[in-house]
Amino acid sequence: MENQRSLLVLLFFAFAVGFIAVVFVLRWVLHFREGLAWDGGAKEFNWHPLLAVTGFIFLQGIAIVVYRLPWTWKCSKLMMKLIHAGLNVLAFILAVISLVAVFDFHNVQNIPNMYSLHSWVGLAAIILFTLQIVLGVCIFLLPVSPGYVRAAFMPIHVFSGLFIFTTVIASALMGITEKLIFGLTDPKYKDSPPEATFVNVLGLLITVFGALILWIATRPSWKRPSEQLLHTLHNSEPAPVGTKTDTTMSERPDPEPNSEARRRNGKTEE
Ligand code: HEM
Ligand code: HEM
Repeated sequence: MENQRSLLVLLFFAFAVGFIAVVFVLRWVLHFREGLAWDGGAKEFNWHPLLAVTGFIFLQGIAIVVYRLPWTWKCSKLMMKLIHAGLNVLAFILAVISLVAVFDFHNVQNIPNMYSLHSWVGLAAIILFTLQIVLGVCIFLLPVSPGYVRAAFMPIHVFSGLFIFTTVIASALMGITEKLIFGLTDPKYKDSPPEATFVNVLGLLITVFGALILWIATRPSWKRPSEQLLHTLHNSEPAPVGTKTDTTMSERPDPEPNSEARRRNGKTEE
């Protein structure tokens, strides 16, 4: 119970900090910068940070912890996979639009493409993210891969998911710094004008959001209980070991080695 309360508190903080970061980036582009438009100019560039932070950071972070929300534990595993995959696809779409905005802005303004470390790391993150979605759908969603393939791939999926998320945050911090150095000329970034302080705080908010999501996603005791354990809890009497609680292959408990819930349940991995 105490454990679950800490989870809820951290989930609340993560959501609040992420939401405030989105509000900050919106205020940055609307109040300190030129605003938003699709005109090949500075206003078009502004879609880049706005959609990158909203989609690629905030939505991706929520997608990562969505299995941990206790009030979703009643939902079937298939439903949760669809929500997890759907949020990630939405994050991907916003990230791609944010890239189209910055490439189009560069082309119209005759600015070279892909020269900075920020752009290399950012593009690599988007390519890995695409691969993660394709493999995630093929292995965990489509009822074609055998249990042992799912079991072998799960630790790789979790590690690469957390690695991509961390890389995106690193890239965003580089992009923010670049933009402040390019954009602030009179007064300069080093003179700490109000915009610089405001956007530095945005960078801190993004970092704290990232840390909270990584912490929540790496606590084994906060994992979603397995389907069978849920069945047991809901019926308040123990389900016989080996009983199936669902019908489709995709809804069967996912094979996750080292799952705390599964160890508690005493069930062997598929
Ligand atoms: C450019 C990716 C976030 C600022 C670029 C480019 C890529 C990219 C691939 C190269 C575009 C080109 O060469 O035409 C990403 C990704 C992000 C992200 C994946 C996800 C978090 C941000 C944020 C800012 C930002 C939050 C803050 C303003 C910039 C700037 C450029 C740029 C100033 C132009 C200079 C350059 O090419 O480095 N970004 N970006 N980016 N991005 Fe980002
Ligand atoms: C779990 C990331 C796409 C299926 C996870 C976890 C991460 C993650 C970090 C661990 C969460 C935790 O332990 O609480 C990502 C990222 C994706 C992505 C960044 C997109 C690029 C997908 C897709 C599917 C999928 C498309 C297909 C259904 C799963 C499953 C789990 C999982 C079944 C296990 C959840 C559990 O603990 O029971 N993902 N994922 N993922 N993901 Fe993904």
